[in-house]
Amino acid sequence: MAFDNLITEKRDGIGVITLNRPKVLNALNSALMRELGEALTAFEGDDDVAVMVITGSEKAFAAGADISEMQSKGFADVYKEDFITSEWEQILRCRKPVIAAVSGYALGGGCELAMMCDFILAADSAKFGQPEIKIGAIPGSGGTQRLTRFVGKSKAMEMCLTGRMMDADEAERSGLVSRVVPADQLLDEAMKTAGQIAGLSRMAVSMCKESVNRSYETTLSEGVLFERRVFHSVFATEDQKEGMAAFVEKRAPQWRNR
Ligand code: CAA
Repeated sequence: MAFDNLITEKRDGIGVITLNRPKVLNALNSALMRELGEALTAFEGDDDVAVMVITGSEKAFAAGADISEMQSKGFADVYKEDFITSEWEQILRCRKPVIAAVSGYALGGGCELAMMCDFILAADSAKFGQPEIKIGAIPGSGGTQRLTRFVGKSKAMEMCLTGRMMDADEAERSGLVSRVVPADQLLDEAMKTAGQIAGLSRMAVSMCKESVNRSYETTLSEGVLFERRVFHSVFATEDQKEGMAAFVEKRAPQWRNR
């Protein structure tokens, strides 16, 4: 796959997408987001890919939506094209896990993009924020909603109202990121984590992702019921038989992804 604003690579069952507009700190313009949607769709449909990783540069995962591109838009423009959400939500339609590996700035749409991924691995240099308020706007791709669910109302409100950035330690303490690693090890750690997941049953991984995601959309009792039904479904898969047999027989499982 050849793109103008991304670099894509396939390695050991992992599809890596590197945002690549270094001169503007990976500002997310419509061309980049269209390409990101295409890259995700291609990896989603590629049997050689089990897990995806989205990353940026050392200085910036992404410094937000491209301000130069959107500054002259009017209400009718953004309303008609359903700016920005419809294109970006491609990431939410992936059934394979998507990991965000964040180094440097993840601001505005960059923070929102990272939060749409299944989990965020952060370099110790990472900085997260929703600074849209400083340019007379508000977050437009779920920032007020997802950040609040991740870190709670008080911190999310303060960050959205002031544009204050959160460093990697605070992001880990607050539950925004799963883990912080030294910046020079970020991609290796992301690949290692993605590799662990890629070595598991794809059926089980996909069902597990669906179940965790359901917790954001429903009540506890409905979510637990959903989980139990998915758990029951697992017993219809060959991989459940193989995984449990391999444990009992003290051997490595041979996944069939069925
Ligand atoms: N859009 C367009 N260009 C951007 C950009 C953005 N979001 N962020 C940075 N750039 C460009 C700068 O204009 C600059 O370009 P030039 O070299 O041509 O001047 C280049 O990237 C480097 O940036 P800086 O010189 O500003 O770098 P810095 O190290 O001094 O500061 C920064 C880094 C703090 C991230 C600063 O660039 C900044 O504040 N960027 C804007 C952050 C922002 O407001 N993001 C929210 C955007 S709105 C949004 O995302 C809406 C939504 O919810 C979807």
